Amino acid sequence: MLRPFFIDTDTASDDAVALVIALTHPDVEVVGISVVAGNVPLDLGVQNALWVAEQCNASVPVHAGASAPLVVPLETGQYVHGADGMGDIGLPLTGRTPASKDGVSALLAASHRYAGQLELVTLGPLTNLALALRADPALPERLARCVVMGAVADHVGNQTPVAEFNMWVDPHSVDEVLRSGLEVELVGWDVSRRDAVFDADAAEAMRSIGTPNARWAVDIQRVLVEFCHTQTNLDGFDLPDPIAMAYAIDPTIATETRRLACWCETSSELTRGMVVMDLLGFTGQPPNALVVTAADRDRFVQLLHRALAVDAQHALSEDT
Ligand code: RIB
Ligand code: CA
Repeated sequence: MLRPFFIDTDTASDDAVALVIALTHPDVEVVGISVVAGNVPLDLGVQNALWVAEQCNASVPVHAGASAPLVVPLETGQYVHGADGMGDIGLPLTGRTPASKDGVSALLAASHRYAGQLELVTLGPLTNLALALRADPALPERLARCVVMGAVADHVGNQTPVAEFNMWVDPHSVDEVLRSGLEVELVGWDVSRRDAVFDADAAEAMRSIGTPNARWAVDIQRVLVEFCHTQTNLDGFDLPDPIAMAYAIDPTIATETRRLACWCETSSELTRGMVVMDLLGFTGQPPNALVVTAADRDRFVQLLHRALAVDAQHALSEDT
């Protein structure tokens, strides 16, 4: 039986590659995608997700979700991924229609339909998940897992000195999720910075796989490369959402994990979005997160290359 996945995404250049990994994996059925504002405004994220699903010849329903964080105003990551979120390389990212404008209801419906089996993977701010938990506090009982790309276990941020982007965009949603009773699996940006950076040679190894998906998966990182060069001091681009998705599919890609009690800072401007992790047990609180602190890069790259090698467009032409 295929594993039912539901993916929540703020679809930009790394999310897109994570979607390809899930949509092409033989063991996974992506039963729904909800989009949340984050990297780009909601409508762009919806169009990007619909375009990626089309490239994978996937008929998965894509639903629009929250267009703004719970409390703070939306601040996008278009300076990181491009105005369109996909590297501004001129892709035809308009004119597609989502299945609904209610991603939260779609997630809840999927959690009932696949109760106990559904694996939720979040790749953006947690606004949709927080709204779903408000609407139905029993959601955690029906989820098999909730894998979150977010936070930094070493507290070296990519949005502020101590905060990772997804957690910083909507810290109140993170606070609600972490207090909800839902145990999450956190794959932080520290894992990406250490185990998912692609320099020019590694990017060429991806692109030379030669399928249309392999080519655009690299080309859309154009703006991210510039951000990595000028801001995060990484040689090339990093792929946080794809390594989080690879872990969700194959948890043995994590080589080190820790169960920790975590909270998200919501009030301080200096530490907004910092996910505080109680490593030494000062609070005496029970763990609410399994934090991935190291991963097997080679296993990740192998899974990534296998996904990009699927010639979905050829399958598309065979189907049509
Ligand atoms: O910090 C990295 C995360 O923020 C990734 O999910 C990226 O897509 C952005 O949303
Ligand atoms: Ca993302």
